[in-house]
Amino acid sequence: MVPVPADRRRVFSGIQPTADSLHIGNYLGAVRNWVTLQETHDCVYSVVDLHALTVNPNPADILRRTRVTAAQLLAAGVDPDRSILFVQSHVSEHAELTWLLNCVTGFGEAGRMTQFKDKTQKQGSEGANVGLFDYPILQAADILLYDAHAVPVGEDQRQHLELSRDIAIRLNSRLGEGTAIVPEALITAATAKIYDLQNPGAKMSKTGSPTGILELLDEPKVLAKRVKSAVTDTETTIRFDPENKPGVSNLLSIYGALTNRAPGDIAAEYEGKMYGHLKVDLAEVVVETFRPIREGAQALLADPDELDRILARGAERAREIAGPVFRRIASRFGLLAPGTPGTPCTPGTGARSTGAR
Ligand code: TRP
Repeated sequence: MVPVPADRRRVFSGIQPTADSLHIGNYLGAVRNWVTLQETHDCVYSVVDLHALTVNPNPADILRRTRVTAAQLLAAGVDPDRSILFVQSHVSEHAELTWLLNCVTGFGEAGRMTQFKDKTQKQGSEGANVGLFDYPILQAADILLYDAHAVPVGEDQRQHLELSRDIAIRLNSRLGEGTAIVPEALITAATAKIYDLQNPGAKMSKTGSPTGILELLDEPKVLAKRVKSAVTDTETTIRFDPENKPGVSNLLSIYGALTNRAPGDIAAEYEGKMYGHLKVDLAEVVVETFRPIREGAQALLADPDELDRILARGAERAREIAGPVFRRIASRFGLLAPGTPGTPCTPGTGARSTGAR
């Protein structure tokens, strides 16, 4: 095991097990970055199954997807010797710290989260559950439990990160400096936005066209077919021009993101060539980038005992950090530590409340 130098800054991030495969957007926007951060940071990554419960998945789905998500992270290069990879519900301090943080978070403050508002608008407040309201506070608990300095997330998580920071700052001012580390958001530099291959006007997503998405666990044949049947336009020139040529430009963006090149430079190489050439080459790049991840994940899923052992070891290492941090914060709240004979018993100072508020 390669030890992580003690002076490295700590990173925490989480991903929800809500799908049977990660897609290219998860890969470019999160996973690839998580892998790189291992070079410079002390990384803690979690499959956040408790967060996923807020959408009431059926039990068999979340169970399967928890393993499937972890397997893809490992196959993509999250190294369980260098980093900690664990399942959120295996470390009970996440739920426990959420309770403490609930008690210092304003009702209005939580109600202003735009993701919560969007979701309740769609489902109506009768259809939404309390977990959805509490979601960002559980997220704050995830981060604060590991004294994380930095949190790599996409732009859509900016407001949640701001709430985590506000809560940490509040803990320090009410309960004393050093109660929590105030985390910084590492917003993933807008890696080219990826659009639906069949409908390049819309963001690529699970809920878009079924053949407009590229998933890490898709068979090579399927991936190649999707790239080759991507919608383009009736012109014949390959140019990077997202406004007038959204389909072709999307293919160039994907190509560029996967090969770390500028889409415009790639376009220049295809001058005078037909769309078919670009598609054949891009299909190859997609297939070869995803192949080791798919094969690695399949191998891990074929032997879930080994995968479960990796996750159990991750949980054990996570607990070694989360346990003491939880006790530190809980004692600042004035919760009596269990089984510590000798904790002084100071008589009350009268009727006046000396509560944290
Ligand atoms: N809410 C995050 C997302 O949807 C997932 C998440 C949960 C997370 N806990 C976290 C991300 C802690 C970063 C840190 O992407």
